Amino acid sequence: MNSERESERHIELGARRPRRLRRTPALRGLVRETVVRPEQLVLPIFLVDGPGARREPIEAMPGVARHTLASAAELAREAADLGVVSFALFPRIDDALKTPDGAESRNPDNLVCRALRALRKAVPGACLVADVALDPFSSHGHDGIVVSGEVHNDLTVAALCDQARVQAEAGADIVAPSDMMDGRVGAIRRALDAAGLEHAAILSYCAKYASAFYGPFRAALDSAPVDAPDIPRDKTTYQMDPANVREAFIEAALDVAEGADLLMVKPALPYLDVLARLRDAVDVPLAAYHVSGEYAMLRAAAERGWADYDRCLAESLTSIRRAGADVIFTYGALDFARRLR
Ligand code: PBG
Repeated sequence: MNSERESERHIELGARRPRRLRRTPALRGLVRETVVRPEQLVLPIFLVDGPGARREPIEAMPGVARHTLASAAELAREAADLGVVSFALFPRIDDALKTPDGAESRNPDNLVCRALRALRKAVPGACLVADVALDPFSSHGHDGIVVSGEVHNDLTVAALCDQARVQAEAGADIVAPSDMMDGRVGAIRRALDAAGLEHAAILSYCAKYASAFYGPFRAALDSAPVDAPDIPRDKTTYQMDPANVREAFIEAALDVAEGADLLMVKPALPYLDVLARLRDAVDVPLAAYHVSGEYAMLRAAAERGWADYDRCLAESLTSIRRAGADVIFTYGALDFARRLR
């Protein structure tokens, strides 16, 4: 009894003083639990058709632009020099090529497929990720095919299989279905294997929420759902309800059973709880998408002098890794890598 009180007193006096290990940069470095390395980052690249090396700034995403193929190749080489060697491609499709069924998405010579070939040439060792979903290609802006006012699951899945196949044939290392249709991972796996593309991996956007944080991305690609009769106003019948976390386990179990090689949580910072809990539930690598709205908030605050962009970015990426992400998609990949230099 007496000695217990004695040791309590000892603790009060500071036998454990956590500040001891925070005293110098060397001590802090020694016990740092989480690191972010450039090779864990995926840089999303927005594409636009056209000649030469041209870049079009995106208003709501300062520092990010749409790139022609030649400009995208330059960007990829610059990234590779900084250690960022993974790229996710998102096309701004000409309005004239957009149709209700998004047929251009299955064209083996579409902007994404041409970009895959150009980037493979520019950075042969790159990891190229192609987004599988119809929204950049559909005239109504939905990720799938709309029938009688609803996004039709199984017709969409068939279209996504063809899209994934042309992307893998064009050199995508990873196809990443971001559409949230049911059953698409298994169907895409079978379609890839049947085409002799067993090597192509599937990164499933597994817990993708119907989020307002995608706003700047949709402006960049002009891909927001249109306001028209018989077109759903939003994506809430396929993307997840931000209020739900148990549902993410259902999605994860299905995607893993269907053959997903990696899973994604998206957005990132508002959903760190989902990431942390999925980390404990599955063994496949987890990715998180630090999305356009998250990036835009940092830039906007920094522009007003209200926050330090580089430090907020580094802290965001560290937190996303700490919560359990192996891989982070972020528009700040090059900014982060540059600051490490
Ligand atoms: C669509 C897609 C979206 C993003 C990636 N793929 C937007 C959406 O679902 O409407 C958003 C990425 C971002 O905001 O940075 N398939």
